[in-house]
Amino acid sequence: MAQEVTLANWSDVARLFALGLVPNLAQGVIIRRPLAVRLAAGLDTNAWACRSLDRLRERYGPGPVLVGVPGRQSLVLLSVEDVRRVLGETGASFTAANKEKSAALSHFEPDGVLITPGAARAQRRRFNEAALDYPAAEHRFHEVFREAIREEARPLLAGGTLTWKRFHAAYQRIVRRIVFGDAARDDERITELRDKLRGDGNWFMLHRKRHSLRRELFVRTQRYLDLPEPGGLARAVCDTPAAADVKPVAQMQHWFFAFDAAPIGAYLALGLLAGRPAEAARARADRAYLQACVLESQRLWPTSLALLRDTTVETHWPGGVTLPAGTAVIFCSSYFHRDARRLSYADRFEPEVWLDGRAEADWSIAPFSRGSAECPGRNLVLFTSATLLTELLRCDWRLSSSHRLGPGRPLPRTVDHTSLRLTAGGSPTAVPAPPVAQDTA
Ligand code: HEM
Repeated sequence: MAQEVTLANWSDVARLFALGLVPNLAQGVIIRRPLAVRLAAGLDTNAWACRSLDRLRERYGPGPVLVGVPGRQSLVLLSVEDVRRVLGETGASFTAANKEKSAALSHFEPDGVLITPGAARAQRRRFNEAALDYPAAEHRFHEVFREAIREEARPLLAGGTLTWKRFHAAYQRIVRRIVFGDAARDDERITELRDKLRGDGNWFMLHRKRHSLRRELFVRTQRYLDLPEPGGLARAVCDTPAAADVKPVAQMQHWFFAFDAAPIGAYLALGLLAGRPAEAARARADRAYLQACVLESQRLWPTSLALLRDTTVETHWPGGVTLPAGTAVIFCSSYFHRDARRLSYADRFEPEVWLDGRAEADWSIAPFSRGSAECPGRNLVLFTSATLLTELLRCDWRLSSSHRLGPGRPLPRTVDHTSLRLTAGGSPTAVPAPPVAQDTA
């Protein structure tokens, strides 16, 4: 049952802003700022945010808390029942095209489905699902993708030490090959354009729109669709019927942007396995378990820290409260995923929860969201990351940075993936013939 709404007092609002909002804005919500991420991890700022939400729940109970700032009322969710209501009714009383999210994403994907309100949303969603083969476990081109991933993985096995810089550069090449085709492998300009515009997105509506950069990004994308034989998802786009309003190039910008969260989850999963030889051995032998490890890393450190909705109509809440259309609703997944009052495994690495139905049954565990705006790229991400990790797990990796990712104590709530270093022990098993691809990082 949905819970009663209460209004937070000004000191709780101030605490929430200072301990929850400010550290996340500083780290960058659309593209991470490495120095701020390092500082946040040093201070474990997500633990502060969790404590301030715990405090709200202690003071006001499990019902949603209304945070009033002039011009914008926001409802902060504190119970699983309310999360289920809001995510489940997305598309009806709630829209995923929240005002702040739209301001941030419109810098590079103004017509992306996630920020499309109204009637156009349904056909854009249908297009995304069709081109991404959602919800199939494997995309129709998965064999081609697997080959690309293997090629890009091989150079990472040489050299003994794995850094974020090398891992990320390889993953970026994989993403370009999957989204635009092999022809885009070395198109670093397209990544640069995306990331500049994401940097603008970190400032929401406060940054001016750089139309010429966006035009260049769209023109470059269109070129991959216009090739005589487009590759990757570009080929799926060409094969998918699209009404005039769908704007496939804009949909592709979301895929290209969202894929950049995948290396963070995959690299941290490798870091978690590096300190757990038994789990690493199981991940080598069992693909479903390896995917569960990737999901578990996304639970522990969700790359979308909060999911935002706006109400589209008046909504009624227990206690006789009616909220006007246009109220923001905030679901802090990073809080619910680590809710030690409900989850015995909150701060532990426990991939089994993704295999035995526990995570699936709980709507507040939602690294890829739930309901009608659930991520249609989820299975593609799991395929890509698990295939890459399968290659890398040919080596035994050890943590060579000071990250506290091993078993035996609670995992930190904030982590700096950019300074994580891994060292290979022993030589890789059965590495195929020398790579065609070069590690250009
Ligand atoms: C680790 C990587 C990724 C994560 C954690 C992730 C997570 C999410 C989340 C949480 C949402 C819902 C946002 C909301 O409810 O406000 C979402 C939406 C979406 N994602 Fe992903 N995503 C990832 C990668 C991808 C990739 C690679 C693609 C496509 C190739 C993709 C396509 C989409 C699309 C099209 C939507 C919008 C769905 C809609 O509005 O109906 N995502 N994703």
